[in-house]
Amino acid sequence: MSTFHCAQSASFDGSTSSAFNNITFCVKTFGCQMNKHDSERVCGMLESLGAQWVEEIEDADLVVFMTCCVREAADTRLYGQVASMKNIPLRPGTPHSKRIVAVGGCIGQRDGQKLLDALPHLDVVFGTHNLGSLPKLLAKSLEEGSRNVEILESSEQFPTELPTDREHEWAAWLPITIGCNNFCTYCIVPYVRGREKSRPLEDIVAEAQRYADAGVKEITLLGQNVNSYGRDLYGHPRFVDVLDAIDATGIKRLRFATSHPKDLTDEVIRRFGTLRSLMPALHLPVQSGSNRILEAMNRRYTREHYKELVAKLREACPEIALSTDVIVGFPGETEGDFQDTYDLIDEIGFHQVFTFIYSKREGTPAAKIDDPTPHEVIQNRFDRLVDVVQKHAWERNQVDLGKTVEVLVEGTSKRDARLLAGRSPKNQTVHALIPAGLDAKSIQGKFLNVSIDEAKTWYLSGSVIEGSLHD
Ligand code: SAH
Ligand code: SF4
Ligand code: F3S
Repeated sequence: MSTFHCAQSASFDGSTSSAFNNITFCVKTFGCQMNKHDSERVCGMLESLGAQWVEEIEDADLVVFMTCCVREAADTRLYGQVASMKNIPLRPGTPHSKRIVAVGGCIGQRDGQKLLDALPHLDVVFGTHNLGSLPKLLAKSLEEGSRNVEILESSEQFPTELPTDREHEWAAWLPITIGCNNFCTYCIVPYVRGREKSRPLEDIVAEAQRYADAGVKEITLLGQNVNSYGRDLYGHPRFVDVLDAIDATGIKRLRFATSHPKDLTDEVIRRFGTLRSLMPALHLPVQSGSNRILEAMNRRYTREHYKELVAKLREACPEIALSTDVIVGFPGETEGDFQDTYDLIDEIGFHQVFTFIYSKREGTPAAKIDDPTPHEVIQNRFDRLVDVVQKHAWERNQVDLGKTVEVLVEGTSKRDARLLAGRSPKNQTVHALIPAGLDAKSIQGKFLNVSIDEAKTWYLSGSVIEGSLHD
């Protein structure tokens, strides 16, 4: 973790801060960028109270799990993982006789007290609306040995006043909305993240300006549906106003996630061709290519509308890299429905597609729909889809062969430490040999121009243009 702190005052309850002296902590994060960002805030709070971040559970006196329940697999794993904590020995020299374990995030919000009942080694449960209460709850457990749970039904305000310890110094996630009002029938998110709330435009811009002034290179705006930003605010600022205002801060790269096709406006689409900082990449989840299934999912657009959006995007910005999410096996999906999805994916040719097998989430409307389709049939559809997804991912990357792309360096390749790993404007992973005379650490967070000579399905590689290192 880097130790860059947000310059805002901390408005969390840190009154019992001495409890954190000499304490080490680690945070294990699952799920989406929202959770990753919440984890950065947890780290920021605990560090500002004197606790020290460590990477491994073995070295930590205090472990926080930030959890996701969007699909069943992640959900079941969490219970097992917390239960197995009792087998991990305490770190030598710990001032406490027991490791404190906390569960937050979306499973915390959904299960609350149930988690404490099921997991005897668990000490603290908190939810998605009360991150700021975590220090208070942990301090109580540390000092009194008590078990504490606090879940709020909703947040009173946008939680902007918590310190943040960002994962990378050169990139920042900036939440502009929290919650979701869309209630797609398969999705648990609106139940665990609450109703959509927009953050005041002035706050967003002020935070973005601080980042730009501090040399941050890339800002990613976050929200479950960034396109509906501002509907709940006085004067109804629009998402496009956020984009324009952030561009004016001078930030180098601007991205956002996630967009809902029903709310993506022509104005936003046009910005892909005209706004200096807006990167030519867009994640636009389609979920299905069948109008019948889209309706059953309550997505409120058709495949025709989606295709029209893609055509407009490509007209505004011919090089744009599109990515999407697809769910296979929504209850009642027929072979014909699947074929519609397959054809749409084949026709559009995405840079990247995140494919998911439908997972039943209790409490959502779709959970009530019975589906006799055997798992093997759904798995087979999924496999066929993955094949066509990979074919297009490979093809789309071939376009960059022979081109020079500007790469924001993130670190080194996991497979070979002599190679740098970074991102192109289109958000492709790029590898290249670290030039002699430069070391991996010193180029992190800087730009290099790379001439591409190899294009694979999931990455590009090439060689660094001499003398191209820049801020
Ligand atoms: N707000 C974003 C992301 C939501 S969760 C959006 O609207 O796109 C990320 C992805 O998980 C979704 O896009 C969807 O493809 C997938 N997902 C959500 N619920 C699911 C479920 N019950 N089963 C399988 N995949 C699911
Ligand atoms: Fe879930 Fe739909 Fe909201 Fe995305 S838009 S978080 S899929 S309910
Ligand atoms: Fe998962 Fe919660 Fe995000 S359920 S996808 S971590 S909003």
